[in-house]
Amino acid sequence: MTLKLHQLFPSAVATVQLPLDPLDLAGHLQTLLNLRGEAEGNPSPGCAWTGDLNGIWQLHQRAEFRDLAGRVVEAAWHYLDAVGFDRTRVALHLQRSWPVLSDWDQLVGRHHHPNAHLSAVLYLSGTGSGEEGMLRLHAPLRPNELVPGLAVGHGGPIADGHPLNADHWDLAPQPGLLVLFPSRMDHSVLPNADPEALRSSISFDFVLTAPAEGDPPEYLSPHPVFWRESKL
Ligand SMILES: [Fe+2]
Repeated sequence: MTLKLHQLFPSAVATVQLPLDPLDLAGHLQTLLNLRGEAEGNPSPGCAWTGDLNGIWQLHQRAEFRDLAGRVVEAAWHYLDAVGFDRTRVALHLQRSWPVLSDWDQLVGRHHHPNAHLSAVLYLSGTGSGEEGMLRLHAPLRPNELVPGLAVGHGGPIADGHPLNADHWDLAPQPGLLVLFPSRMDHSVLPNADPEALRSSISFDFVLTAPAEGDPPEYLSPHPVFWRESKL
């Protein structure tokens, strides 16, 4: 008997390979190293250096990265198209972008981005093997374990790595690879296992609001031109 399996309500994660000029790429890598300066990592031992915790969180505003950011914005619009958003009914805001540099044995712990709606990561390095540290996206739940927690115990009962019961998905970095995913999705970066390699990427956070024109729908924030900071 062959069952037809209907895989319902999937989360959409997008990847696209952006062509990067090798000279531009070398320049960007050098710039990011310069921005890191003497720092080796974030305060917690073993954690990669991330620009957002070190004052470098508006990379897209720097002339050198404007073109790159523009291509990420274009990809973000394509992502929104792909999951059914009507371009005329939303405004897309790039609110934050920052480098992440991971030396040997450094990682980024599991987290999500509650400040944003859509997140993206552009890789500037990597061999495609994942040795420098996979990006790991964590499944928000495992609907096919039938009851939450059934697959937690050691020794079964669900086959390890079964595609309909995965609790994570890994992506190997390589230069120019861009990944886009919902900001609510937990993710982490596995340790850089190559003592010779520097893992380098740029993260981007987008927020959706209503367009500046017209009345905003109930569940979408009005466009920030209408916001007023409320101070005492
Ligand atoms: Fe992140």
